[in-house]
Amino acid sequence: MPADSGIAEAAAVLRDGGLVAFPTETVYGLGANALDARAAARIFEAKARPSFDPLITHLADAADLEKLVGPVPPVVAALAERFWPGPLTLIVDRPAEIPPIVTSGLDTMAVRVPDEPSARALIRAAGVPVAAPSANRFGQLSPTRAEHVVKGLGAAVDVVLDGGPTRCGIESTIVDARGAQPVVLRLGALALEELVEAVGPVSVRPGSSGQPVAPGTLAAHYAPRTPLRVVTGAQPAPADGGRRGFLAFRERPADGYAAVVVLSPAGDVTEAAARLFDALHRLDAAGVTEILAEAVPDTGVGRAINDRLRRAAATWDPAG
Ligand code: TXA
Ligand code: MG
Repeated sequence: MPADSGIAEAAAVLRDGGLVAFPTETVYGLGANALDARAAARIFEAKARPSFDPLITHLADAADLEKLVGPVPPVVAALAERFWPGPLTLIVDRPAEIPPIVTSGLDTMAVRVPDEPSARALIRAAGVPVAAPSANRFGQLSPTRAEHVVKGLGAAVDVVLDGGPTRCGIESTIVDARGAQPVVLRLGALALEELVEAVGPVSVRPGSSGQPVAPGTLAAHYAPRTPLRVVTGAQPAPADGGRRGFLAFRERPADGYAAVVVLSPAGDVTEAAARLFDALHRLDAAGVTEILAEAVPDTGVGRAINDRLRRAAATWDPAG
C-alpha cells in the first residue's frame, strides 16, 4: 500500500496485533504494537530473530518519551531534544507497560522518534508505541525499499507501506547516555561528529561479540548471500575468469567485473550510505560468486558504512 493513503488501515492492523512494515528515514521497520506481547512475539517469528535480540520502540513525538517512561537522565533528554525526530536511538529504563519480550528481558529499552512523516502518522494513528526492528530476516541485508521487504519477508507481514527508497539508508546510531559519558552501542546514520558536537566526548563500544548488547553489532550481520570481501581502493578484476561484483565508492574499477555499482560519483559518504543496502541487494541478485567492496573514507557516516561492510564480510574467510 502507498505510505500516505494506507495509514488508517495499517494503524488498525497494528492495533489488532498485526505486523506492518513501514518506511523510516533509515531503513524499513517491521512494526507491532509494543504494548502487546503476542504481537511482539510475531516479529521474532517473522524475522527468525533470536529472542535475545531486543527491539527498538518507536514513538510519534519526542514529548511521548516522558509520558511513557517518566523523567529521563539529563543527557538523554538533551539528545532527544536535539536529534528527534531523527536517526538516533536512546537507551532508557523499560517502563512497566512494555512487556519484557520487547526488550528481550532487559530492564532497559531502546527508543526513537523516526524522521519520516508517514511513520510518525502511522504511530500516532495507531495510538500505541510501535516496536520495530529492521524488516529483514535476521542477519540479512537491511531493507531500504518496500520491494526488499516483500522479497525478504513476504507473507509473514500483514501490510507493507511503500514510501519509496529511504533517505539515510543505514540504521540509527544507538547511544546509551545514562551514565557519566555517553556510549555509542551501534554506529549509524547520525554521525559521531554530530554527537560529539552536541554532548562532548563519547566512547564507542560496538560489537563486543561474546555478549552483544546491540546485536546489530554481532560480527556477522547485514550479510548478502554472496561472499563479500572488503578491499581498499579500486581493484583490477582478478584474472581467473570468475564472475565478480564490485561495490565502488566513487570511481568505476577497470573492466573485468560482471556487475559494478558506484555508490557516490561525487565522493559523498552520506549519499553512499543512502545507496549502500540497495547496491548490496542488487549485487547479491547479479549472479556473481564474490563481491569485492571498497572501503569508504572513515569520516561521518562513512564509519557506519565501513562497519556494515566489515560485518557483511565476516561470514567469509579470505584464507579458506
Ligand atoms: O534505524 C533503525 O534503528 C531501524 C529502524 C526500523 O528504526 N531499526 C533497527 O532495528 O535497526 P534492529 O532491530 O535491526 O536493531 C536494533 C538494535 C539491535 O542491535 C538491538 O540489540 C539493539 O538495537 N537494542 C535494542 N534494545 C536494546 C537495549 N535495551 N540495549 C542495547 N541495545 C538494544
Ligand atoms: Mg537489523
